[in-house]
Amino acid sequence: MNEYPITHTTIEIGNSQIKLTIVDDPDHLLDKLSREDCDGKLYLPYWTYLWESAIGLAWHVFALGDMISGQHILEIGCGYGLAGIVACKEGANVVFSDFEYDALLFAQHNAQQNGISSADYVQMDWNAPCFQYQFDVIFASDVIYEEQTWRPIVDLLKNYLKLDGTAIFSEPNRKNAGGFFKEIRKNGFTFEKSTCFVTLGNKEKQVNLYTIQRN
Ligand SMILES: C[S@@+](CC[C@H](N)C(=O)[O-])C[C@H]1O[C@@H](n2cnc3c(N)ncnc32)[C@H](O)[C@@H]1O
Repeated sequence: MNEYPITHTTIEIGNSQIKLTIVDDPDHLLDKLSREDCDGKLYLPYWTYLWESAIGLAWHVFALGDMISGQHILEIGCGYGLAGIVACKEGANVVFSDFEYDALLFAQHNAQQNGISSADYVQMDWNAPCFQYQFDVIFASDVIYEEQTWRPIVDLLKNYLKLDGTAIFSEPNRKNAGGFFKEIRKNGFTFEKSTCFVTLGNKEKQVNLYTIQRN
């Protein structure tokens, strides 16, 4: 984490003030941290931003309260880990995962500075999940923005969500999100959608929340 300019922020979720250490002014790091793979696919360091969808998901997790206490939860594409931190505070056992190692360093630091001592941090690409077991809950904020991610994420739910498990996704009302949920339906899941509004900086944004279960 030392190689990043950092700043500190506090996000109020329910009755908790969640302390987050985040990258200061990530726009300035875009060039340095962007990279192309051998097929020319561009990777942008989205994890260095805190997204409205994370706050929307965190509020939803807080509202679930006791219902997630003791549940085994996987967060994919966790970034700074806000929603997972709230789940831990509600008594869940959380595995934070992201394919960016540095994102996990921030997520771990953030969890620890909010008093969370027992959680797991796994560097995992959702194209190649690595678990030997299934989860009660899988959740994610703002991970379905690119169509090529839909198939692997749906497969991950099929393989790693318990038969009676629940997935919870949030996204900032993007036009293409409907395509992901068509895939979800085609693959034997059903979902319920709700909407909330999140203010971050001076802007208010709509965040959609989807609670997904098997048919
Ligand atoms: C838009 S950011 C959202 C971060 C965080 N969930 C939030 O809402 O603030 C997308 C996240 O997904 C992660 N990600 C992107 N592609 C991934 C992949 N193939 N496997 C695992 N994580 C990935 C990124 O590193 C980043 O943390």
